[in-house]
Formats: sequence, structure tokens, C-alpha cells
Amino acid sequence: MRLSSCTLLLAAAAEAAASHYSPRPHIAPAPKHPRKPVPSPAPRTKYCTVKTHGNGTDDSAYILSAFHQCNNGGHVLFSANTTYTIGTAMDWTFLRHIDIDIQGTIKFTDNTTYWQENSFPFVFQNVTSFFKLGGDDVFIYGGGELDGSGQVWYDLYAENEYILRPVLIGIDGLNNSILSDLVLRYSPEYYVFLANSTNVVFNNFDISGFSSSDNVAKNTDGWDTYRSTDISILDSVINNGDDCVSFKPNSTNILVEGLWCNGSHGISVGSLGQYVGEYDIVENIYVTNISMHNASDAARIKVWPNTPSALSGDLQGGGGDGRVNNITYDGIVIDNVDYAIEITQCYGQSNTTLCLEYPSPLTISNVTIKNLSGTTSTKYSPDIAAFLCSSTTVCTNVVAENIDVVSPVGTNDAYCLNMDNSTLDVTCTGSLLGTN
Ligand SMILES: *[C@@H]1O[C@H](CO)[C@@H](O)[C@H](O)[C@H]1NC(C)=O
Ligand SMILES: *[C@@H]1O[C@H](CO)[C@@H](O)[C@H](O)[C@H]1NC(C)=O
Ligand SMILES: *[C@@H]1O[C@H](CO)[C@@H](O)[C@H](O)[C@H]1NC(C)=O
Ligand SMILES: *[C@@H]1O[C@H](CO)[C@@H](O)[C@H](O)[C@H]1NC(C)=O
Ligand SMILES: *[C@@H]1O[C@H](CO)[C@@H](O)[C@H](O)[C@H]1NC(C)=O
Ligand SMILES: *[C@@H]1O[C@H](CO)[C@@H](O)[C@H](O)[C@H]1NC(C)=O
Ligand SMILES: *[C@@H]1O[C@H](CO)[C@@H](O)[C@H](O)[C@H]1NC(C)=O
Ligand SMILES: *[C@@H]1O[C@H](CO)[C@@H](O)[C@H](O)[C@H]1NC(C)=O
Ligand SMILES: *[C@@H]1O[C@H](CO)[C@@H](O)[C@H](O)[C@H]1NC(C)=O
Ligand SMILES: *[C@@H]1O[C@H](CO)[C@@H](O)[C@H](O)[C@H]1NC(C)=O
Ligand SMILES: *[C@@H]1O[C@H](CO)[C@@H](O)[C@H](O)[C@H]1NC(C)=O
Ligand SMILES: *[C@@H]1O[C@H](CO)[C@@H](O)[C@H](O)[C@H]1NC(C)=O
Repeated sequence: MRLSSCTLLLAAAAEAAASHYSPRPHIAPAPKHPRKPVPSPAPRTKYCTVKTHGNGTDDSAYILSAFHQCNNGGHVLFSANTTYTIGTAMDWTFLRHIDIDIQGTIKFTDNTTYWQENSFPFVFQNVTSFFKLGGDDVFIYGGGELDGSGQVWYDLYAENEYILRPVLIGIDGLNNSILSDLVLRYSPEYYVFLANSTNVVFNNFDISGFSSSDNVAKNTDGWDTYRSTDISILDSVINNGDDCVSFKPNSTNILVEGLWCNGSHGISVGSLGQYVGEYDIVENIYVTNISMHNASDAARIKVWPNTPSALSGDLQGGGGDGRVNNITYDGIVIDNVDYAIEITQCYGQSNTTLCLEYPSPLTISNVTIKNLSGTTSTKYSPDIAAFLCSSTTVCTNVVAENIDVVSPVGTNDAYCLNMDNSTLDVTCTGSLLGTN
């Protein structure tokens, strides 16, 4: 018995050396550390290489077979210089104690009919996904690429905004795991939607996907967190057209550090309060060392008013309850950003009078935004920020300090409503010039 298990181990080591398996990424968050240690379990002892048809035919059966074979202590390889095709929605929530080493490219088919009928529904904002990832002690890395074939979706969405566009990486129930060194391209909608998860680290992602037609790639959030706690999003580059990171309902203990964001809607708390009868919590968030370019916002908190409102046909809501508490934005350099800071409780409601008639019950407390620098865009110049609370009682201890941001005309004006002006290091003046 001893001999044969030893032989097996040697064979595994020989296979690992022969097949160019990637080493585990070394992740050292700095200067801030997540509340929980970065997961680091024992190495794996089984090795599986995913096969491919190599001609655009669906490789899902090969992928599932490798995942099952190497689950509970194995290392799965998607080989370099190889394109794998996925044309079947797969449930990957059975994964435990597994490394998934993606060196090649995984491309999702562009059959919008199939995916709309088969992608996995998440319960929030009509989100669906190509695959559903979950489990415990799952490490995914390797430097390879996931390609969502987004162009057909950008064009179809322009025709019909009610289509269901899958997110590229849909996660439901993932614990003690790391996703690192991945290239994400052309997601139909959000890039990563993370739900029901605990202690997950995302590190060194490279996200981009512009439309090549006149139809813009919309709602391409980098990360959305939902019903999740102890999450870190670190050292990544994001080129997109919606929130760079967004903390949806019940996101707590989250560290976002070292992101370069371009073209986005900023790092956003919310939107919250969208659904009547629900209580949304976003608490203990630290965002630091961010570089924000050509964006609508840098630091942002968006709350729906207490009256039905619509941002678009497929995005409407209002009337929900909850709390935003203990949020810190520390160190953001901006360039060509419309608002350096935008806090609003009138999200999706262009009629401010109506919004103020129905003040939100959702409280905003203990928010610190500090060490911001750079120049805003001309859009709301001379204003650089907007602080819009729907009543004098729900926003407490909101602090903006060391705000070294100017508009293109050299001002640091802001619209401030129902907030204590004395803790805001901007010049509160004038009327609301607009909201994003
Ligand atoms: C792709 O390759 C598989 C064999 O691996 C073959 O069965 C199938 O017919 C091929 N499909 C096309 C479209 O070439
Ligand atoms: C992949 O292709 C590159 C460039 O052609 C080559 O340098 C590299 O060795 C290849 N890797 C593998 C594992 O075949
Ligand atoms: C797309 O998917 C639909 C529904 O599953 C299927 O009927 C159709 O044959 C597929 N089209 C192509 C080109 O594969
Ligand atoms: C998360 O977990 C809850 C409770 O188990 C479940 O109802 C829900 O479907 C899961 N997924 C999402 C996306 O919330
Ligand atoms: C899903 O989209 C429909 C419109 O297609 C909308 O009426 C509904 O409110 C959305 N559901 C959620 C949960 O946002
Ligand atoms: C993940 O952690 C949550 C909360 O502790 C737990 O309910 C869930 O069962 C865990 N999931 C797995 C796959 O271990
Ligand atoms: C968020 O957590 C609160 C408190 O536990 C709970 O009442 C609420 O239903 C949760 N909301 C969601 C969307 O999970
Ligand atoms: C930033 O995004 C814009 C589009 O918003 C794009 O034209 C530009 O090339 C991007 N910059 C870089 C350095 O990638
Ligand atoms: C506030 O959040 C930070 C993380 O950003 C955490 O370290 C701190 O303990 C939290 N404060 C309280 C009172 O929970
Ligand atoms: C805005 O709402 C107020 C209060 O309900 C209403 O009197 C006013 O007509 C609305 N203005 C517009 C432009 O709809
Ligand atoms: C704001 O922070 C203080 C000090 O940590 C705490 O006592 C208070 O409960 C917090 N406010 C809310 C609404 O949690
Ligand atoms: C705060 O700023 C607003 C202008 O935005 C002004 O009307 C109000 O008087 C200021 N309040 C205090 C207490 O300075």
C-alpha cells in the first residue's frame, strides 16, 4: 500500500512537471489587509488536462469530466495556445479542493437563443450567467482568457432591452477561494457577479470589451457583490462601461485595493433600496489606491427614492429600506471624471421635488471619503461633487476630507442637500447641475 501511494505521488509530480502546470499565484495584499487571511490550503495531488474538439464544437462534456475527475484534491489544466468552446450552461457548484489552471482561452458560443433559455437565473436584477460557480477551496488562475462573445449581445440589446444577457462569471455560494491572473473579454453584461460567498479573493484581473458596432456595450460592471462577506478585489485593470465595482444588497467586509478603472461609473455602493419590502445592508467597506479615468463618478453611493422611479425600461425600482454604514474611500486619483463624489438618495428619479416628498428610510452613516486628487470633466463644471440626501435625518457622519480635486475651471464647488456641510471639504454652493 505504502509503495503504491508513493508511486502515485511520484507519477503525479512527474506529470505536473511535464505538462507545464502553473504555480499558485502569490497574493500579498498591501497596504491594507483583508479581515480574514488569504486562503492557502495544501497543494493538489491529482492532475487532469481538459480535452478539446479544437474546431468550435462544444467542449462542455470534456470540461465537466475533468472537473469531476480532479475534484477533491486535483489540478485541472486548460492548455496554453488552445481555444475551448462552451455551448452548454454548466452548474459548477460542486467544486471542492480544486485548482483550475486556465492558460488557454475559453470562448462562449454566440447562440443568444440558447443562452437566454438555459443560462442560470440569479434572483437579483434579472441577472443570469453562462455557468454557475460555487463550492469551497477553489483556486482559479493561469493567465488565460474567458471570452463572452459579447458583440452579438450588444447588438441584440440595442434592438430589445428586455433580453436576458448572461454575466461572464456567475458565482453563487463560493467560500475560501481565490481567482487570480485572468483575462476577461466581451462579457454580454456584468463581468463578475458574486452572490452568497464568503472569504473570496480576486486578484490581477484584466477586464476589457468594447463594442465594434455603434451599439455600446452596456451594463458591463467589473464586479457586483451580493449577499457576500469578506471579499477582496485587488490589483486589477478594468476598461468598461458601467460600475468598476458595485456593492449590491448585503455586501459586508469588503476590501477593494489597487484598481485602474477606465470609462466606468466608478466604485459604487448600490444601487440600494430598489425593491419594496427588502432591507439592504452595505457595511464595512474599504476602497483604497484607485486610479479612475474617463468615468462618470469616482466615489459613489446610489439609493433609490421612496417612490417608484425608472432609470430605463429594464431598470426601475424604489421604496426599499436598509442601511449603508462604515464606508471608507481612501486615496483615489481621478482624471476626466464627471463627479469625484456623488452621493444620492434620488437614484433613477429626475424629479428631485418628488424624491424629496418621499424621503428614503435607508440610512447612510459613517462614510469617510479622503485623499482624493485630480481634475473632473467639464460635464458638471464648476461642480466636482454632489451630496443629495432625501431628508435631514437619514445621512449622518458623512465626511469628505483632503479633497484636492478641481474642476477644469479651477473650482471645488459641490451641491449639498440635507447634509452637515461642516465636514465636507468642498465649497457647498448653488443648485444641482445633474446626476449620473
Ligand atoms: C469537430 O471534431 C469532432 C471530433 O473531435 C468531430 O466529431 C466533429 O464532427 C467536428 N465538427 C466540425 C464542425 O468540424
Ligand atoms: C504557446 O505559444 C507560444 C508562442 O507561439 C510559445 O512560445 C509557447 O511555448 C506555447 N506554449 C505551449 C505550452 O505550447
Ligand atoms: C441555438 O440554440 C437553439 C436553442 O437551443 C437551437 O435550436 C439552435 O439550433 C441553435 N443554433 C445554432 C446555430 O446552433
Ligand atoms: C443565495 O442563497 C439564498 C438562500 O439560500 C437563495 O435563496 C438564493 O437563490 C441564492 N442565490 C442568490 C443569487 O441569491
Ligand atoms: C426583470 O425585468 C423586468 C422587465 O423585463 C422587470 O419588470 C422586472 O422588475 C425585473 N426583475 C427584477 C428582479 O429586477
Ligand atoms: C459557504 O459558507 C456559508 C456560510 O458560512 C455556508 O452556509 C455554506 O454552506 C458554505 N458553502 C460551501 C460550499 O461550503
Ligand atoms: C439582508 O440582510 C438582512 C438582515 O439579515 C435581511 O433582512 C435581508 O432580507 C437581506 N437582504 C437580502 C437581499 O438578502
Ligand atoms: C479608456 O477608455 C476609452 C473609452 O472610454 C478608450 O478610448 C481608451 O483607449 C481607454 N484608454 C486606455 C489607456 O485603455
Ligand atoms: C469599519 O470597517 C473597517 C473595514 O473597512 C473595519 O476594519 C472596522 O472594524 C469597521 N468598524 C466597525 C466599528 O465595525
Ligand atoms: C415633480 O414632482 C412634483 C411633486 O410631485 C410635481 O408637482 C411636479 O409637477 C413634478 N415635475 C415634473 C416636471 O414632472
Ligand atoms: C456609526 O459609527 C459609530 C461609531 O463606530 C457607531 O456607534 C454607530 O452605531 C454607527 N452608526 C450606525 C448607524 O451604525
Ligand atoms: C450648506 O450648503 C447649502 C448650499 O448647497 C446652503 O444652502 C446651506 O445654507 C449650507 N448649510 C450650512 C449649515 O452651511
